[in-house]
Amino acid sequence: MSEALLEARGIRRTFHETGEELEVLSGVDFALREGEFVAITGSSGSGKSTFLNILGALDHPTSGALLFEGRDLFAGGAAELDRYRLRQVGFVFQFHHLLPEMTAFENIMLPARILGTPERKARDRARELLTAIGLGDRRRHLPGELSGGERQRIAVARALMNEPKVVLADEPSGNLDERHSANLHEMFVRLNREFGQSFVVVTHDLSLAAMAGRQLVMHEGRLQTPEEVRALAEKPQERS
Ligand SMILES: Nc1ncnc2c1ncn2[C@@H]1O[C@H](COP(=O)(O)OP(=O)(O)OP(=O)(O)O)[C@@H](O)[C@H]1O
Ligand SMILES: [Mg+2]
Repeated sequence: MSEALLEARGIRRTFHETGEELEVLSGVDFALREGEFVAITGSSGSGKSTFLNILGALDHPTSGALLFEGRDLFAGGAAELDRYRLRQVGFVFQFHHLLPEMTAFENIMLPARILGTPERKARDRARELLTAIGLGDRRRHLPGELSGGERQRIAVARALMNEPKVVLADEPSGNLDERHSANLHEMFVRLNREFGQSFVVVTHDLSLAAMAGRQLVMHEGRLQTPEEVRALAEKPQERS
């Protein structure tokens, strides 16, 4: 088996906010291969966002390791984590988080500006992405002048700007209607094929999950296959 691009080993995450200990993730193991498209489903509150935030190094696990190309990210320093977040990972949030005073084009350009990509190369890439998402003629629009689906596509283009190897998306079509979600899903699949990026998408949308190469379910603090979850449901007496 080829080595994983991104690997989570024994990820545990507990919260102590209420004085009581709440264990949300109880040892998640996950390996993502290059070019893979994985969908994660699971009931509300099962820990999907918590896990995706850890995969994107936006949050630290209570214990466990995250390896990118074999390197242990949380064992490295802050600079290594910053580099990972800026260069290797593109994050698409449920709500777009575009900057309202910047045009669509400027929003897409932002990650390249932070990274210090040469201006000309960044502009070429931003134009290429605008065309890929079908919004070449909306480049000067402010987020407030775009539809919800268009904003979400701009957010996806922004996540892809620094050519990340991994795209992490948390309910990317959660606030879109059926037609716009279908467009967004097709775009993900196309970008996965054309640019070869790996995708991990958290979704309640079963049609999007069905498009993925592999489906996993967050269940009882772990990522499990749909078959494992079904087997657990059928044999409740054998549950530990
Ligand atoms: N910062 C926090 N402090 C305390 N508890 C938290 C915190 N973040 C998440 N939780 C708890 O962890 C559990 C999992 O939350 P999470 O957001 O990962 O769920 P989810 O699977 O993404 O759900 P949804 O489908 O509703 O988005 C929830 O019960 C939540 O209350
Ligand atoms: Mg969530």
